[in-house]
Amino acid sequence: MPVVTISQLSKHVGQEVTLQGWLYHRRDSGKLIFLVIRDGSGLCQCVVAKGPETDAFFEECKRLGQESSLRVTGAVRADPKQVGGHELTVSGVEIIHKSENYPITNKPHGIDFLMKNRHLHFRSRRQWAILKVRATLVDEIRGYFNRNGYTLIDTPIFAPAAGEGSQTLFSVDYFGEPVYLAQTGQLYVEAGCMAFGKVYCFGPTFRAEKSKTRRHLTEFWMVEPEIAYADLNDVIGVAEDFICSIVQRVIRDNRAELEFLGRDIARLETVQKPFHRITHKQAAEILRGPKARELLDRDLTTKKARLDEVTKLIGEKETQEKGQGLKEWQRDKLVAELADLREEKDDLDTDVRNIPQHIELAANFDPDGDLGGSDETIISRLHDRPVFVTHYPKDCKAFYMKQNKDDSSRVNNVDMLAPDGYGEIIGGSQREDNLDVLLHRLHEEGLNEADYEWYLDLRRYGSVPHGGFGLGVERTLAWLCGLKHIRETIPFPRMMGKFYP
Ligand code: 4AD
Ligand code: MG
Repeated sequence: MPVVTISQLSKHVGQEVTLQGWLYHRRDSGKLIFLVIRDGSGLCQCVVAKGPETDAFFEECKRLGQESSLRVTGAVRADPKQVGGHELTVSGVEIIHKSENYPITNKPHGIDFLMKNRHLHFRSRRQWAILKVRATLVDEIRGYFNRNGYTLIDTPIFAPAAGEGSQTLFSVDYFGEPVYLAQTGQLYVEAGCMAFGKVYCFGPTFRAEKSKTRRHLTEFWMVEPEIAYADLNDVIGVAEDFICSIVQRVIRDNRAELEFLGRDIARLETVQKPFHRITHKQAAEILRGPKARELLDRDLTTKKARLDEVTKLIGEKETQEKGQGLKEWQRDKLVAELADLREEKDDLDTDVRNIPQHIELAANFDPDGDLGGSDETIISRLHDRPVFVTHYPKDCKAFYMKQNKDDSSRVNNVDMLAPDGYGEIIGGSQREDNLDVLLHRLHEEGLNEADYEWYLDLRRYGSVPHGGFGLGVERTLAWLCGLKHIRETIPFPRMMGKFYP
């Protein structure tokens, strides 16, 4: 019998095949057992009918626990109503391992429990869908730069000095000397582009972010292209083209996963060139202006109304739950609904508490300051496509950014804000290519010149205008999949206070 994967079933309709997988879900109706099998490539319902040819395994299948591993043989039938579009009429079952008391059932579990069981959690359909999209995203990231003439330069993870802010460094004992985990590969790809023209690095980066937000991980993946003979405009052009190519590829290859996740694909389809371009000054005006205020006032009204509604629903369902005579499935349904409602209520409580602060922050936005998370959300929600915000005040940005020639208090940098409030997913800039200005900035930031001698050499020997950007994989994936929290976007998330398993 040919062993096939569930994703290949369409090529085997009418034939007998063997699937090897795990039991995702089981239900029986006396004479029929419905085994939903997952094999990593998809899900397929396999029907075992009581009869002489299933005698050997029928009773065993009836008691089989969730996540037991098994080989199932049967005839493939196309059935668009079934998950995955096929069904197997089972003629043989070989049980490989009987799993008992699998901890993650279809009953509600708190997020902390799921995260502690992350090694099992990502077997579930939703997590599986997200990580399938991640694999496509990562492939397209590499593909885009490889197709477009960039050379891959792998950059070190042990770094002698800060690349971004020195407050977010993790230090490691390196044979008695302190070194840091890389926050960025940028300084090294700058060296790379002087040797290869167009380069990129792609790997894990580390930030000791003491912020427990929906957007921050302490270990995340970043791709960083770097281009010689490029100014800020060139960098923005590449970022725009790159984002379009990622979005198109994911829509093409992961439509089913995005639909399963409830992502509005039409919204992703609007990601077309040209994106919006505004300066930091314009962003400041928007934040301090009436549109931002109206947006947040409207949010507050809607959220308060929904909060009242949800609170009432919770009350009603709690009363029902205490009632007599509920069937088990009715009770399970209630428990699940209550869990969802309580989660929604927590989110709404937080929003209703935070929105007035966000209103304050936006209204009093300091034109010489950095954009905060809530400011980014406002700007991105007031635009229908991604927004490039350029020319930030130099004091809130890294030392290596190119000083603007018309306004020396500003730098030639860019942040790209994703649509729908997802905030910054790209940060980039033209780099300071003038040795004296760069030295001055190093000193201003209190950095130790000796640590950067090698980097300064790039300005001593054939310095040219150059620039690049960094795109964070996890924030991009959260946007593409429409997720509330970044923790689901990486197989094993690392956050402040969380590093198990
Ligand atoms: O804006 P950042 O800090 O830029 C750099 O690191 C530059 N050296 C990049 C360059 O020009 N080569 O980070 C770039 C991106 C952010 O836009 C965001 O997507 C992601 O990295 N990022 C994080 N993602 C998750 N958790 C965190 N704590 C992140 N910090 C940054
Ligand atoms: Mg940034």
